[in-house]
Amino acid sequence: MKRLFTLLVASLAVALATPTSEASARELHIVPAPTYIDLDSEGSYTVTPKTTIVVEDDAWNAADRFAEDMQSYYGSKKPLRTAKRGKGIKVRIDRFVPEEGYEMTINDEGILIIGGSEAGIYYGLQTLRQIIVTNNSVVPYGFIADEPTFTYRGAHLDVSRHFFSVEDVKRFIDIIAAHKLNRLHWHLTDDQGWRIEIKRYPELTEKGSERKETLIGHGLTPTEWDGTPYGGYYTQEQVKEVIAYAAERYITIIPEIEMPGHAQAALHALPWLGCEEQTVDVWTTWGVTPEVMCAGKETTYTFLENVLMEVMELFPSELIHIGGDECPKDRWKECDHCQAKMKELGLENEEQLQGYLVARIEKFLNANGRKMIGWDEILDGGVTPTATVMSWRGTEGGIYAAERGNDVVMTPMKLCYLNFYQTESREGEGLHIGGHIPFEMIYAWDPYEGMSDTAKRHIIGVQCNMWTEYIKNMETIETMLLPRLAAMSEVQWACDRRDESTIRERMTTLRRFYEANGWNYAPYYFEGRK
Ligand code: ACM
Ligand code: ZN
Repeated sequence: MKRLFTLLVASLAVALATPTSEASARELHIVPAPTYIDLDSEGSYTVTPKTTIVVEDDAWNAADRFAEDMQSYYGSKKPLRTAKRGKGIKVRIDRFVPEEGYEMTINDEGILIIGGSEAGIYYGLQTLRQIIVTNNSVVPYGFIADEPTFTYRGAHLDVSRHFFSVEDVKRFIDIIAAHKLNRLHWHLTDDQGWRIEIKRYPELTEKGSERKETLIGHGLTPTEWDGTPYGGYYTQEQVKEVIAYAAERYITIIPEIEMPGHAQAALHALPWLGCEEQTVDVWTTWGVTPEVMCAGKETTYTFLENVLMEVMELFPSELIHIGGDECPKDRWKECDHCQAKMKELGLENEEQLQGYLVARIEKFLNANGRKMIGWDEILDGGVTPTATVMSWRGTEGGIYAAERGNDVVMTPMKLCYLNFYQTESREGEGLHIGGHIPFEMIYAWDPYEGMSDTAKRHIIGVQCNMWTEYIKNMETIETMLLPRLAAMSEVQWACDRRDESTIRERMTTLRRFYEANGWNYAPYYFEGRK
């Protein structure tokens, strides 16, 4: 592999000098990197709006998505035609190819993509799309084989701190799908807004989806608010639409319903969820609030189960995210219900009470055929071996859980929070939460660092997170996401074959792909700023 990449680099100068000539057809710059590329010394196939996609197996959806993408690229009214027979781009399923992998052969017969599944075909077509868009539709004869490192390749999107429309979320899905991600972790509830319609508790969105105003400036030094009401939520019909849109792009949406902390918006809507029944506002500030759900009252558990029932009816995802992070215990310490519950259960402290809540909810999800995933605080109160842990405070929690046999998604804040600044100087970046994660830092990250071989087997994947306290619109999301998502996608899809010596050239090509799609991206990496 290394030798191959070195050869590619050696002939790069020619390609750069004549970026649209036939000579450049001998170069392929793809992100994330395929497992294997072997190009013939000559010959190429040119894709046009008239090219047919021949669908040999039941892979019509993958073919249709590709046709649509090409339609927007060619600006033609009609997408590429799909047919059962003929010549052109042929797609086929063969179970001998790895599940999400593909093999692509380009020769004088056309282009043949064999996927291990329909998803594999889709990823092969995404690779082909990058080649078409960045190489003037000229696809050099040769062979490409590819498969992902991780089965869980996630991106998270917080729609509570700021709300993003159905169209925005679809655009987010388009972008992550093109980078071969397959999970969207949808952070639907938090202190600053409840964003999903729950029919049994209409107050959650009637009251809990709107805050009176929003903090101006930084959350660490709150002094001023904007005086403007802010809100938004998704109806269940809209949620279904987004789930279907994601599924058509081979992305499973994992919904997150935060409990027992990060729930002030729910407490505003339904005051009986708190330890005391005082009314609190939907929070207008960022950070961690002491207002959390009461873990002593049975009504809280009934509420959580009713909400999760509706969530499970909407979302087919096996994993359901229950949050679990950053839950201060101040209210529980003074609450008769919480203290009585602890006494009844023989619990020694409030951490164990949270452990009880988490374990009880996990049992409920399991009884309904689902699996629980939560932030790594779910480890604090003692977690069962069946829960999946999202390691965010660092990698220690993930390593600890993986060593014990829990499945783990690695998403350490210092490497995976794409709401952090991209440059050291922060110049021109606008106001953000803090931190510093340049492209290069993500690219150099080894998600297996410090682990035994046993633990490594439990790392199901890697995820980047987009928290939106300081991100108010889709354009900013895109510039925080791109191009760092490309580095993340190499960790997720091509972890074992990352190559420092080729990534910059491949990114220069990918930048043209971003531009052709009209996606906003940050300039820093391309300017050499970090
Ligand atoms: C988190 O950042 N509170 C998961
Ligand atoms: Zn309580």
